[in-house]
Amino acid sequence: SKHLLGIKDLTPDDIQLIFETADNFKDVINRPIKKVPSLRDITIANVFFENSTRTKLSFELAEKRLSADVINFSSSGSSVKKGETLLDTVNNILAMKVDMIVMRHSSPGAPHFLSKHIDANIVNAGDGTHEHPTQALLDAFSMREKLGDLAGKKIAIIGDIIHSRVALSNVFALQKMGAEVMICGPATLVPKYITSLGVQVVTDVFEALQWCDVANILRIQLERQHIKYFPSLREYSLYFGVNKQMLDRLDKEIVIMHPGPINRGVEITSDVADSQHSIILNQVENGVAIRMAVLYLLAGANR
Ligand code: CP
Repeated sequence: SKHLLGIKDLTPDDIQLIFETADNFKDVINRPIKKVPSLRDITIANVFFENSTRTKLSFELAEKRLSADVINFSSSGSSVKKGETLLDTVNNILAMKVDMIVMRHSSPGAPHFLSKHIDANIVNAGDGTHEHPTQALLDAFSMREKLGDLAGKKIAIIGDIIHSRVALSNVFALQKMGAEVMICGPATLVPKYITSLGVQVVTDVFEALQWCDVANILRIQLERQHIKYFPSLREYSLYFGVNKQMLDRLDKEIVIMHPGPINRGVEITSDVADSQHSIILNQVENGVAIRMAVLYLLAGANR
């Protein structure tokens, strides 16, 4: 395919190919000489209309490790503030002979819209509340690294589901890898359609923790709450926060994940986030290899 717009469009074989390619790139970036010439003469623009730390930096690093030429655009400080449209912005970037666009945007479907109007490869780096495909790939890759084959594994996604592109992309990726998925959160933050995707839904966090092999814990997205949100942060941490006492009460060890950024003391306490059960920084490490694999496979398809 020419683009990576979402996990929904991928087959299990596509995901397997991305993982095997990322395995190779993970070996490469652990060597003293981390760079390969695979994307020499390819120019990539990272176009971010929304804030990011992990995704933006790991795409940039992945591109540099592949020897691509890289330019970075942030809407803040750009001519978007003077009223320039998304399509004009991207077409002006492409006029500078750019081959690939990595884009984060607050509107669901923005990369799909672009794909109908431009000729370059597009990678979705998060579109509003819709999908965040490379996050789901790095999450599933990190689970596979820790637990082996994901078929039959039980993954609980806990938190603000309704505003989360990570949750939706995770459901698609994990189900395609044969895992069982449970969704857990306050009823006000779980979308009604989610049961139609074949996931279990519970509101009791301890029940989810007891059921799962892996808990992927998400933050409340305060920036997407257009009405006064419910529950409040205090209520959320009291009723839905994951803490060490809960993990100690389980009769097994589970793997703790979080895509970041963490609201410490709200959805997760520091003694859980920083514990030996947590693979949160492994997720970040794997993000570079996964993004190298995605960029390499897309550029290769175009060459
Ligand atoms: N996980 C993630 O997407 O983090 P950033 O918003 O910092 O990129």
